[in-house]
Amino acid sequence: MCGCCDCDDCVEAACCCLPYHVRKNMKDCLICLAVLLVAAAIVAGVVVAVLYGRPLRRAKIRVVDASLTRFDLVMPDTPTTALAYNLTLALTLRNTNWPIGITYDDPLDAAYSFDGQQFDRVQVADAGGKVGGSKTVVYHLSSGSEEGRAVLLGNAGEAEFRKENATGVFEVDVALTGKFKYTLRWTKCKIEATCQLKLQLAPPGATAVVFQEVDCEVAKSEDKNC
Ligand SMILES: *[C@@H]1O[C@H](CO)[C@@H](O)[C@H](O)[C@H]1NC(C)=O
Ligand SMILES: *[C@@H]1O[C@H](CO)[C@@H](O)[C@H](O)[C@H]1NC(C)=O
Repeated sequence: MCGCCDCDDCVEAACCCLPYHVRKNMKDCLICLAVLLVAAAIVAGVVVAVLYGRPLRRAKIRVVDASLTRFDLVMPDTPTTALAYNLTLALTLRNTNWPIGITYDDPLDAAYSFDGQQFDRVQVADAGGKVGGSKTVVYHLSSGSEEGRAVLLGNAGEAEFRKENATGVFEVDVALTGKFKYTLRWTKCKIEATCQLKLQLAPPGATAVVFQEVDCEVAKSEDKNC
């Protein structure tokens, strides 16, 4: 009978085709291979745990370009003050956590406000959008309103508008909100960032204004997994 069997207590030649020393070598070899595989699995596990389980850095958000071509208060002194405006923005989001990517769970939104009062919201990125590890994504936003977006400025807000209108430089805050997940993590993390912009009004035909880049303040998450 020929095959692989335990020949310790039988006549070797009758039991197996392979000589004893060959089988002994193969057995040692298999044990050796198994030990190597286990060691490699442990090393891979440690590398993954260190890379993916380490505390991560918040994304960096920056407004790299902006242009305000219109900013008018319409229907002042009525209950429904509104802002007619045209604004384009370019903002970058940098994820420095190589190799861990970000996937948006909820859309990333930007809310624009003047004197603390929100006058518009625009979508920056769709749910499902991704930013790879160690990647920077540029978002271009363009929005406006011909008739004006309702805004509750109140007396104080209208006074602030007139003041800034006289200088031609408007202070507009951009608040970013969204939710995302890191690669290989379950936790839904929040993005909360504010960018304080000083925008020089430049109607079409006016000389181009050089925009000074602005870093946004990204709020620290209370969740240690974020
Ligand atoms: C604002 O944008 C609209 C289209 O979105 C355009 O028709 C209009 O000319 C723009 N106005 C200014 C002052 O840039
Ligand atoms: C803002 O300033 C422009 C001129 O720079 C003026 O025509 C406009 O009436 C002002 N708007 C308000 C609400 O004061």
